[in-house]
Amino acid sequence: MSNIKTVLMNGVATIEIARPEKKNALTLDMYAAMTRSLEQAGADSSVRAVLITGQPGIFTSGNDLQDFMNRPPSGPDSAVFQFMRALVECEKPVVAAVTGAAIGIGTTLLLHCDLVYVSDEARLAMPFTSLGLVAEFGSSLLLPLLMGHARAAEKLLLGDSFTGADAVSCGIANAVLPADEVLRHARRMAERFNTLPPGAVRDTKKLMRQRQKQSVSEAITAEGELIVQRLRSPEATEAFQAFFQRRSPDFSKFS
Ligand code: COA
Repeated sequence: MSNIKTVLMNGVATIEIARPEKKNALTLDMYAAMTRSLEQAGADSSVRAVLITGQPGIFTSGNDLQDFMNRPPSGPDSAVFQFMRALVECEKPVVAAVTGAAIGIGTTLLLHCDLVYVSDEARLAMPFTSLGLVAEFGSSLLLPLLMGHARAAEKLLLGDSFTGADAVSCGIANAVLPADEVLRHARRMAERFNTLPPGAVRDTKKLMRQRQKQSVSEAITAEGELIVQRLRSPEATEAFQAFFQRRSPDFSKFS
């Protein structure tokens, strides 16, 4: 059974990440399925908004680290890049219901959504440096712009996790909701686009994103090149092995 479930109801295409036994870690096949869902939603005139959600207690733990080690992305044609491109270029409003922990790309993708609602039990984190990697998909640009360098550095250099309330105060999210209400609330907000003229919504979203489009695209390219390199680095190998061996990584020998 697919780990990505897409349902179209009341003008909203809901993309549900459903792999709870692996904390909704995202494989290449799951990225490809989400890309298809986003493209279909874009092409279907009955879809007024897209809603991305996870499972109770977990939004996504980010890239599947096993998959990442075995089949590392090699460039812009890789499944993860294609998914992020489809998200960045989605002309329709994208709403996220962060039902639980959002790690790595789970938090990064929120920067490219339009409305973000977070469970009061969720923790968000972008622990790229502790994985031997770098910030991804425009976050090295967008995070400092949103919250200033110092607060972005806690999240991107130290990889500190943060709450939904922090995400709201930093401008990443709209509101924190009780865990059992976050999806319902996000769906209600997504359904509000049914009552608005779709062309005006589309044009406004385009205007809002337009000014940063070129620099976001340049950041994604620069970050992507480094991620592809760093995935083969001894630092990343040590970090990934440590995760699966359930031990702390040892970076003391690296300079
Ligand atoms: N990739 C692959 N497998 C993952 C995973 C990931 N990103 N996140 C969790 N899993 C797997 C675990 O290996 C474990 O598998 P197992 O039952 O076969 O041993 C299972 O999912 C449950 O994870 P576990 O760590 O036991 O759950 P937890 O509740 O203690 O912790 C997290 C949940 C999300 C905090 C923790 O799993 C985690 O930190 N994951 C890695 C997140 C990460 O670094 N993502 C960044 C990717 S760039």
